[in-house]
Amino acid sequence: MSETSLAFFVDLEPAVADFQESVVEGLSGTPKSVACKFFYDETGSELFGKICETEEYYVTRTETALLRDIGPELAKLAGADSTVIELGAGSDLKIRLLLDALDRPAQYVPIDISREHLREAAKAVAVDYPTLRVGAVCADFTASMTLPENAITETGGTRIGFFPGSTIGNFTPEAAEAFLSGIRPLLGAGGALLIGADLQKDTDRLNAAYNDAAGYTAAFNMNILHRIVRELDVTLDPAYFEHYAFYNEAEGRIEMHLRSLRQQTVQIADKSFDVQADELIHTENSHKYTLDGFSALAAKAGYASEARWTDAENLFSIHYLTVAA
Ligand code: AVJ
Repeated sequence: MSETSLAFFVDLEPAVADFQESVVEGLSGTPKSVACKFFYDETGSELFGKICETEEYYVTRTETALLRDIGPELAKLAGADSTVIELGAGSDLKIRLLLDALDRPAQYVPIDISREHLREAAKAVAVDYPTLRVGAVCADFTASMTLPENAITETGGTRIGFFPGSTIGNFTPEAAEAFLSGIRPLLGAGGALLIGADLQKDTDRLNAAYNDAAGYTAAFNMNILHRIVRELDVTLDPAYFEHYAFYNEAEGRIEMHLRSLRQQTVQIADKSFDVQADELIHTENSHKYTLDGFSALAAKAGYASEARWTDAENLFSIHYLTVAA
């Protein structure tokens, strides 16, 4: 596999957030927080995989099935010779479903901040799709980025951004709007964005999805503390925290926190943080939308809603947005 070369590998040398600096900043805030992007070390990524296999976490399985179902419609909407630009490079099954569905896609360009993961994921696709032009861009796609002129070849087909997984739900609606608006230049006039958004639903169902009985979500949330202990110079005992996740109806989001089981002091390098009994450290928001709510958000960000789909149970939605003229 290592002999396969990519058509290009653009390295924008994204600034990789310093873990310790970010943790100190998060714990210095009110309320305290740890950024959710730090969930995904090796253990965290494995645990996320386990979450996706639980009965309660419908998100991944529902989106994947939906993606299979809408393949023929996507092929029609996008037309032949498209360029697929994936925002992130983690969705190996989903990107293959999309590439398989499209009418002879011409080019695939994943953009990811994690250089080696990106390179391997891009190469794996290149091996499986020998006629596809595969290039990769190492960048933080949540920050504004300028690609070198002509890095991504004009294929004569539609440029389609692909942002599955309801990762957009990690942003507040305001930040999501800014993000969606910010990637319009990347897609360009005539471009499209295929994006997954999780839907509002029965509160019990949502709470169960983030409190699975086997405890994988709890372990995933707690892993961020274990990671802090593994990687940083700290005095912190994860045993004095517990997983806490609930659906905040007013905000339309699942919130994940780590709840302190007693009064304690966390020390990081030369800083110490007092944590009260029952105090919460916020770790993640996962916003849930209505179909129209998400279309309205997309409209504010400068996109038209060309098509949108949900599964039979209305659990999850996929939207085909086009860059408004
Ligand atoms: C990968 C961000 C879509 O918000 O549902 C799963 C992450 N957190 N269980 C989500 C997650 C807890 C997931 N996303």
